[in-house]
Amino acid sequence: MKEKLLAIKDAAEQMLAANAPLEEVRVRFLGKKGELTAVLRGMGSLSAEERPIIGALANEIRQFIEQKIEAKAAELKAKENEKKLQSEKLDVTAPGKEIAFGSRHPLAAVEKEMCDIFRSMGFEVVEGPEVEYDYYNFQALNIPENHPARDTQDTFYITDNILLRSQTSPVQVRTMEKKRPPIRVVSPGRVYRSDAVDATHSPVFHQMEGLVVDKGITMGDLKGMLELFAKKMFGSETKLRFRPHHFPFTEPSAEVDVSCFVCGGKGCRLCKGEGWIEILGAGMVHPNVLRGCGIDPEEYSGFAFGMGIERIVMRKWNIDDMRYLYENDVRFLKQFK
Ligand code: DAH
Repeated sequence: MKEKLLAIKDAAEQMLAANAPLEEVRVRFLGKKGELTAVLRGMGSLSAEERPIIGALANEIRQFIEQKIEAKAAELKAKENEKKLQSEKLDVTAPGKEIAFGSRHPLAAVEKEMCDIFRSMGFEVVEGPEVEYDYYNFQALNIPENHPARDTQDTFYITDNILLRSQTSPVQVRTMEKKRPPIRVVSPGRVYRSDAVDATHSPVFHQMEGLVVDKGITMGDLKGMLELFAKKMFGSETKLRFRPHHFPFTEPSAEVDVSCFVCGGKGCRLCKGEGWIEILGAGMVHPNVLRGCGIDPEEYSGFAFGMGIERIVMRKWNIDDMRYLYENDVRFLKQFK
């Protein structure tokens, strides 16, 4: 029996040395149906002298195997921990990843700057639809069917009388239909024209419309207000130049230039030697337009203006190709932080 016990001890040691699963070792030797248990059960056949000796030996071997299993388990656990520590190593002194901050698109930045200036002068910022009726985009602005002004503002038609607005001026009409004077609004937004894309044209671009209607409004108010705007937008030295022009919805009408904000009027590359940069169209609201909105031109008068936002952005940063503004190339956009 003693040999049997020693053989069990050897077998257990071998199994453990060969990295057998610990549970398998335990079941095979120490389990209820295990080999050591079987030996202990057979002790009844031993003599009274042998029994305590074999009993002691069997206990010793049981303890030995138990300890070996425990030690092996601890060893495996330590190895596993070590592996985990290695794979989850964290260098707290490593530099962090830089967070990339975005910035406003130059068109949005200029639009905001313009709105802020007009708000500071008591204007309300309003919006109008980009899908518009022919009536608001043309007819109510004193541009009847077959009027030549339609040729310069050819746009995209949804139906015969619904189109993508070619200007922000329809917001003038929508505002006057809803509000009674005094009216003081600006309205920025997208406009559409069926133009081919090149360095200075795009079928989609942005304008900002302005409208003031009240009793006793004159061209002097228009000039004073635009001058204040130009000085805030382009610098306090800025001068304005009004050139007579024609727009169907204003009378009289003017095109307005600002003195070049690079050379101050002497002539340079930005203003192409002119000293002036055209920024907007403006005029006194035509009596027909007021009347069409139920406002009596004998009692009220008003002025309106409209400017292209792209043009101002391009002049402000000396950008020579409009397409940069729509390509969403970060290398271009991140210059405006
Ligand atoms: N809507 C005109 C255009 O797109 C610009 C314009 C001119 C707007 C004169 C006005 C204005 O309000 O009074 O060419």
